[in-house]
Amino acid sequence: MTTTTDQALEAEQGAVPSSDAAATTQAEISAEIAEISQSVEQAGEPVNQPLLGYAPYRSSILRHPTKDPRHADPEEIELWTPCFGHSEVDPLEANLTIGAHAGTNSTYAGEPLGERITVSGRIVDGDGRPVVGQLVEIWQANAAGRYVHKHEQHPAPLDPNFVGVGRCITGADGSYHFQTIKPGPYPWGNHVNAWRPAHIHFSVFGRAFTQRLVTQMYFPGDPLFALDPIYQSITDQKARDALVATYDHDLTAPEYSMGYNWDIVLTGPARTWTEQEDNR
Ligand SMILES: [Fe+2]
Repeated sequence: MTTTTDQALEAEQGAVPSSDAAATTQAEISAEIAEISQSVEQAGEPVNQPLLGYAPYRSSILRHPTKDPRHADPEEIELWTPCFGHSEVDPLEANLTIGAHAGTNSTYAGEPLGERITVSGRIVDGDGRPVVGQLVEIWQANAAGRYVHKHEQHPAPLDPNFVGVGRCITGADGSYHFQTIKPGPYPWGNHVNAWRPAHIHFSVFGRAFTQRLVTQMYFPGDPLFALDPIYQSITDQKARDALVATYDHDLTAPEYSMGYNWDIVLTGPARTWTEQEDNR
């Protein structure tokens, strides 16, 4: 699970922009976003996957893939890459608010601070068929917008009762369920005073490591959407909307927690945006 958190920081904070980029203001970034948006609109072809070399997202300029993905024999790759036995995933690992996180030595004295939420949804293919038995992993910042990571530089408080990683296996209907707390937004160094909208990172493992997909779930009504180059690197509004969870009162626990629903579509025209291999 440490690996996924590493990837989050590499993608967002570890990828330190140049000094020139770091001096860029939000107004300048927003103007670049508007300019690209306008040119895409004029071309008449908004795309539902991110523009890989998206200049307002500074570190994508040098880090985006410029060649075709390297093809590999799936059977050979499986000899080398991580794999998970379904029996090894404890149902308690879907609850990020309790001290049941494999691989950590933390001692949990109590509940994490923040807004308790249930995040639930289905993983489906392009025809709406459930994807059963999928390993779903999530990682996120705490309520103050801080990750538990050695490279984390945001001076927000750590929460001794929150690590921010969890996983589960989808059920017969393709559904997943996590109990967690709502993450906070955090600064990420893309430009002066750049803040990421609150989000939860998701990984869907597939049948083998080469099939793994990584994406992000956002929360409805976030005022940072318009300012965020990562969110804006997808130019199609419908595709952006597909990354935003829906508040679902049926998922609330009465007088205890809020609830959000978010489905992931793996294939077809309504496919959920996923990050490129080199862009995690
Ligand atoms: Fe993140």
